Amino acid sequence: MNSRVSVVIMAAGLGTRMRSRMAKVLHSAGGQTLVEHVLDAAAAIAPPERTYVVIGYQADEVRALLTPRGVRFIHQERQLGTGHAVMCGERQLQGNSDWMVVLNGDGPLLRPETLTSLVNFAASREVGAVMITADLEDPTGYGRVIRDQVGRVAAIVEEKAGTPEQLAVKESNTGQYCFRSDLFWKHVTQLLPNNPAKEYYLTDMIGILIQAGHAVEAFKVADASELTGINNRVELARVDATFRERKVRQLMLDGVTVQNPETVTVDARVKVGMDTIIEPFARLLGVTQVGENCRIGAHSILMNAEIEGGVTVHPFSMVQEGRLCSGAQVGPYSRIRPGSTVGPGAHVGNFVELKKTHVGAGAKAMHLAYLGDCTVGERTNIGAGTITCNFDGVDKHQTGIGKDAFVGSNATLVAPVEVEDGSYIAAGSVITERVPAGSLALGRARQVVKQGWVEKRRGPTGSSNSAD
Ligand code: UD1
Ligand code: CA
Repeated sequence: MNSRVSVVIMAAGLGTRMRSRMAKVLHSAGGQTLVEHVLDAAAAIAPPERTYVVIGYQADEVRALLTPRGVRFIHQERQLGTGHAVMCGERQLQGNSDWMVVLNGDGPLLRPETLTSLVNFAASREVGAVMITADLEDPTGYGRVIRDQVGRVAAIVEEKAGTPEQLAVKESNTGQYCFRSDLFWKHVTQLLPNNPAKEYYLTDMIGILIQAGHAVEAFKVADASELTGINNRVELARVDATFRERKVRQLMLDGVTVQNPETVTVDARVKVGMDTIIEPFARLLGVTQVGENCRIGAHSILMNAEIEGGVTVHPFSMVQEGRLCSGAQVGPYSRIRPGSTVGPGAHVGNFVELKKTHVGAGAKAMHLAYLGDCTVGERTNIGAGTITCNFDGVDKHQTGIGKDAFVGSNATLVAPVEVEDGSYIAAGSVITERVPAGSLALGRARQVVKQGWVEKRRGPTGSSNSAD
């Protein structure tokens, strides 16, 4: 492929059938917006500086999302149709490539290899354009590919404009085209809104090029599932399922055990190491990375999490932007919030919540605790029900707990406070001052026992003063 290719991705429409206030291409499937998926595929055939995204509806949002990728933008003020979308880029696009590949922004399943084949196919022939087509079982909503008596492509007819015989055709336009750039811009003025929808149809360009004596060929793809466009949320869900299937299948081929794979969600950019086991209904989202030999428990949610090797996440746990170091264990029912690290071999158990907290190597917080803005030293034990009071109603404060310390059950640590190495805190204490290394701190009322009190209260007859 030596010829210059530019790509135009049409993403300016609202997508009325989505019934949303958000532009269609900003909806997500497989953990990424639709337009980002299309960009991923486009990267196979053109560099970002020759990739143009047509924006209109929610242009600012789409631009903000895609600017980091270094792509260019074409403004389509009013959405007058797919032909008009490309026409809006005339100044930027004319003369900058040999081939102009135009893609619908709502076809996220498109594979990079398919685009490479499309361009190679076009470049190896005497054609004015090539478009991808597929025989769809239910072509409703798609433009139909009309062929002449000898089977050559003659035109694309849109659903709204087709005769019953034309609409009976199964071969459909899937919305990916490769145009010879010079011919496209030479004939662009012939695109007119002469149809019931009064739109400029990009698909009319096929007929126009043929009329002008140029061949147009269909690049027919056998696996039509890759080319489904999304027009409503039913189709969005179907495409999302396809992405999940694709990803989970790839993980399994790469050596990850996935139990009940149809229940597991793994976003496109997630990485998982060999011999890790993913249990049913787990969700690995965003840019989560999981090392080798881990177990990700049923119903756990990992969101942008960093999980080193040999970690066990027991069921029903949630890790969000946190790091679990090698051999750590969390859950069941742990919540690891952003900015937290669970050190090597440390255990965080059920109903323990961490926020901006570092748990040292081998430390344990096994039951019912809240540790916020806190550091816990190596091998320290945090008793059941320990609470860091990190918030005074206005500001957040730090709690420092040293190594080899023992925090008794139901301790209340009022931050800012330091519990130094090797110290002990008695169960039920409220700790408001520094606990020096190696000391025991008790911060609770001493127990009082009143012998015979119950009998005295009842009186000598034993009559009870019940309050009913
Ligand atoms: C289009 C094709 C149809 C094809 C189908 C495949 C046309 C006229 N028809 O129909 O033949 O079978 O895709 O999915 O092209 N867009 C703009 N500006 C506009 C209009 C649309 O940027 O003025 C963008 C949309 O945001 C969307 C894409 O173009 O990403 C396709 O538009 P859509 O309205 O979904 O086209 P279809 O009716 O599906
Ligand atoms: Ca569409």
